[in-house]
Amino acid sequence: MGAKNFNYFPEISHSTVRSEKVFKDISAVAIPVLQEEKLSVKKTDLVKLLTAHTHIDLSIELANWPEFTAKAGEIIKIPLKIADLNRIYLVGIGTASDEDIRKANSVLGRKVKASDATVLTAIVEDKKQIEISVMALALANYQFTFKSEKKSKKPQFVIYGDFKDQIERANIFAKATWQARDLIHTPSNIKNPQWLANQAKSFVTASKSSALSIKVKAGRELKDFGGLLAVGNSSPKPGPRFVEVTYAPKGSANWPHVVLVGKGITFDTGGVSLKRPYDMMVGMKSDMAGAAAILSATVALAELKPKVKVTALLMCAENALSGTSQRPSDVIKHFGGTTVEVINTDAEGRLVLADGLAYADLKLDPDYLVDVATLTGAATLGLGRQYAAMYTRDNSLAKKLHAVGNAVGEKVWQMPLVDEYEVALESDIADFNHTADKYDFSAGSVTAALFLEKFVGDRKWVHFDIAGPGRSEVDAGENIKGGTGFATRLLLGWLDTF
Ligand code: BES
Ligand code: MN
Ligand code: ZN
Repeated sequence: MGAKNFNYFPEISHSTVRSEKVFKDISAVAIPVLQEEKLSVKKTDLVKLLTAHTHIDLSIELANWPEFTAKAGEIIKIPLKIADLNRIYLVGIGTASDEDIRKANSVLGRKVKASDATVLTAIVEDKKQIEISVMALALANYQFTFKSEKKSKKPQFVIYGDFKDQIERANIFAKATWQARDLIHTPSNIKNPQWLANQAKSFVTASKSSALSIKVKAGRELKDFGGLLAVGNSSPKPGPRFVEVTYAPKGSANWPHVVLVGKGITFDTGGVSLKRPYDMMVGMKSDMAGAAAILSATVALAELKPKVKVTALLMCAENALSGTSQRPSDVIKHFGGTTVEVINTDAEGRLVLADGLAYADLKLDPDYLVDVATLTGAATLGLGRQYAAMYTRDNSLAKKLHAVGNAVGEKVWQMPLVDEYEVALESDIADFNHTADKYDFSAGSVTAALFLEKFVGDRKWVHFDIAGPGRSEVDAGENIKGGTGFATRLLLGWLDTF
């Protein structure tokens, strides 16, 4: 389980051979077609070699497919048989925008998923788009299975051209995303807070990097973490965990310090305020997707090696229904002393995050404080599944993160922190209510963000509500049904700009 799943990660290499020898051991060749008024296949060096090798004129071949318009994601398969080479894929790439390239490669990747094809691909030549292509090929190949009848095949991709560095970088991003997905897909009878903490330990050990270190708090060590305890004690065996993973390479003492806080609810029943409709509960093994993303991204920094210090705080707890569950109306004390009246025990994410944010502010002196959480159904209602809701008072940072998101294929949209709604969090007996109980502002994702802001002090803070894009309902694009690993690439892309 877990890391074993990497057996399916496709092998991606490149070839600089400029003769027909390039087709040796290749079973499929992928050639791009731009969406233009009159479709044709551009006579690149590779296409010329392919024509010489197969005696197939691809432009003439195209005429046999009147329904093919070369929109990104359309694909034609031309069968043939010359040694190992048994097909050519003509891949529509639309206008060759980054979005189109991502889409085209996802479709190509999915086409040969779980097969033993060796695919020579010459879809793009631009270095940035090579990275996009490699990521899309690898991500669309993701699989996670407990089926006892195992298919153990995986494809290989050979990128045409000299792109060693791009392939390496894209591999780091894609592998980290696979790792996050493995954690998210793991069912909650396996995945409890202790398991998640142990996974984090094994990732740090496996990295063999002196830049990474890890500390785990449990039991009495959590006595000041009132939110984590209130939620996590609903499932006292093994109980909640606070995991702190640090990336601090030699010389990092004076570098900027980014602290990431991730919601790590290993299953969310809602607690006493039981989640309804009950169907909504089935996806809740993925309620630790924020923690998975920040963990995988932080561990991958050991390979990416940016000049930034990063601390990831994984707030791990199960929100169970039991005799030790918290009750609506309980009052709890968060790390740092803020008291909160619990209204609806299904709003557990903000309770565990509050401890993490306060701990970061009071103990870690972050230059940037970023949290990632599958926090509210309201975020999904507002934005759907393609965009994460992003909250911050720093508009230039928001702009930057928006651009990074577009570049890596994880899109974010800035939402407002509406000060007028803050009164909704007033409590009669504690410092705050933990949900917007007073008045009826709706805007559940906004009021959740306003609650979190109470715990960040004066820090430069960004909150990502990934309830929408954290899960996919279907096999589509770079995702399979289930956890997407969203925010792994976003964080890596951003941290790599320091
Ligand atoms: N984990 C859920 C949010 C969620 C919902 C994530 C659907 C992914 C898909 C969170 O803990 C939750 O239950 N939020 C409540 C908050 C409400 C009780 C204020 C919600 O959004 O309904
Ligand atoms: Mn909940
Ligand atoms: Zn939750």
